[in-house]
Amino acid sequence: MLQDRFGRRFYYLRLSVTDICNYRCNYCLPEGIGCGRSLMGENPLSVPEVATLVRAFASLGTEKVRLTGGEPSLRKDLVPLLEAVRASERIRRLAITTNGYRLPSQIDAWHRAGLDQINISIDSLDPAQFRHITGHNRLGTTLQGLERALTLGMTTKVNAVLLRQYNLAELDNFLAWIRETPVTLRFIELMRTGDNRAFFASNHVAGSDIETLLLREGWEQVIRSRDAGPAREYFHADYAGRIGLITPYGKDFCASCNRLRVSAQGKLHLCLFADQGFEMRETIAAGDSEALAAHIRVLIGGKAAGHQLHEGFTGATRNLAMLGG
Ligand code: 5AD
Ligand code: SF4
Repeated sequence: MLQDRFGRRFYYLRLSVTDICNYRCNYCLPEGIGCGRSLMGENPLSVPEVATLVRAFASLGTEKVRLTGGEPSLRKDLVPLLEAVRASERIRRLAITTNGYRLPSQIDAWHRAGLDQINISIDSLDPAQFRHITGHNRLGTTLQGLERALTLGMTTKVNAVLLRQYNLAELDNFLAWIRETPVTLRFIELMRTGDNRAFFASNHVAGSDIETLLLREGWEQVIRSRDAGPAREYFHADYAGRIGLITPYGKDFCASCNRLRVSAQGKLHLCLFADQGFEMRETIAAGDSEALAAHIRVLIGGKAAGHQLHEGFTGATRNLAMLGG
């Protein structure tokens, strides 16, 4: 099993399949991705390359793979990509994070390809505010896609980045929504990246403030399993849904890190906010999963104890579209 100097185990791989996104979320890509770039991005890992990569990680004990982006559904070959991950028997859970753009038309095909968990970004339940934050008037279709995911029996989570000047006032609406909707609604604390410094200063909401409010309203923290990642979950007897809190600025956030990241071009990122990714493309392209596994094992030895966000260092991460959060 893959383990670092601090005894952390990595059974979860977050694999970006494109660094392109069609949304312009104001905290991430306010100007969009920039014109002149193809919607595939530059030479992302192919289906056979993803198969090799996942074989290597599976041989090291990885049990869960999440496809991220950019926006993964911009890959026309997303279904074969999902199947390539599924082909490794040791991968017991296959998840995706999406902005929901193609959800209603594609969710059934993804489900057939073996997808069992979906995280959908919904930063507002108000159509105008949703459009204001993301640049797209698609709240309605996104919610339709979410309903379909629930009907198919998929584990469904919703990601909302709390923003002081935009959706913080909607907190009560969000809570009212999960009274009847059986999803885990995850409030993500805004992270400072290379690109969003001024935005961060006026919009960051401390996760600890949200937690205080939840506890006051009778939410209780779910007991964490030993291999739980950095998110904390809360339940309430009157609600069908749950709440998750992702508070990267909280104490000990990095101690429970259980994931590694690979960029769409096949670089290994030991942390979302690391200074650099490590090149693995040549070994991936050669199809040699054993050599790749040996390479990954060596690289893990260099994983640091934690990020330095508190000190204002954001590493090489200009925005999270580069690496899928
Ligand atoms: N801070 C917090 N969350 C972010 N995301 C993108 N950029 C940031 C940021 N700067 C979120 C998206 C999506 C998830 C993958 O990461 O909203 O839900
Ligand atoms: Fe929004 Fe995600 Fe696209 Fe960034 S990558 S613009 S957060 S949908």
